[in-house]
Amino acid sequence: MSQHILSLHNVSKRFNEKLVLDRVSLNIQSGEIIALVGPSGSGKSTLMNAIMRTLPLSEGTILLDQTNILDYHNNKVYAQKVGMLHQQYDLVKQLEVVHNVLAGRLNRWGIWRSLLSLFKPQEIPLAQSALTAVGLSDKIYRPTTELSGGEQQRVAIARLLVQNPMLILADEPVSALDPVNAHNVLTLLTKLVREHNKTLIASMHSVEYAKTYFDRMIGIKAGKILFDLQTDQVTQQQLNTLYK
Ligand SMILES: Nc1ncnc2c1ncn2[C@@H]1O[C@H](COP(=O)(O)OP(=O)(O)O)[C@@H](O)[C@H]1O
Ligand SMILES: [Mg+2]
Repeated sequence: MSQHILSLHNVSKRFNEKLVLDRVSLNIQSGEIIALVGPSGSGKSTLMNAIMRTLPLSEGTILLDQTNILDYHNNKVYAQKVGMLHQQYDLVKQLEVVHNVLAGRLNRWGIWRSLLSLFKPQEIPLAQSALTAVGLSDKIYRPTTELSGGEQQRVAIARLLVQNPMLILADEPVSALDPVNAHNVLTLLTKLVREHNKTLIASMHSVEYAKTYFDRMIGIKAGKILFDLQTDQVTQQQLNTLYK
């Protein structure tokens, strides 16, 4: 029996009195590529932030790699398990690309090595190979701000490769991109996840992209799971109900 990389048991989250996640339970196996879909405000980002531990739960438990997420006392160890890709590529724009990529290594470096890295980047070959994987090997010393939106999202993916977590959460990773760049970034992201045997959960604004790139689709509405199916099993009627 394969082990679950992530399990949620009756996870609820309240903001003030408002129930934003309502007893969400799900199991995810290693290697799955999952789209989280649902209308704006349905709780997708809240769910991801709960898994990232940036938001405390109101009720329920989350197990990551068989361990309650609250039992990881060390943030560096946690960053080796799970990493996140945001909609607004949270890169330091003034720095050269190489620094943003190697920031993925901070969870393994001590403070001195991290500071030293600002003057003389450590582990250049690692950054170079991650940038090659995302097709940006020639941009390593460019100021990040000079890159296009699609390229910056690829830098953020290179940083994740360097971070090397087992689970990647992506919160609307392409909603700021035009269709061509969105296609390129999703193709790249899902390809790398497969090649490196990672697990991916991405909230997707577009159901079309979710259908095209993801194996499993979880529909969430008003904090509750409405369906959780292999993508080709999801019916138009279920999608209509989700967005109604
Ligand atoms: N920090 C917060 N404080 C209060 N309410 C919040 C906070 N974050 C999110 N919410 C509310 O929780 C609900 C779910 O939000 P969110 O998880 O961002 O939805 P989604 O990502 O699906 O669009 C929304 O009603 C939102 O207004
Ligand atoms: Mg959101």
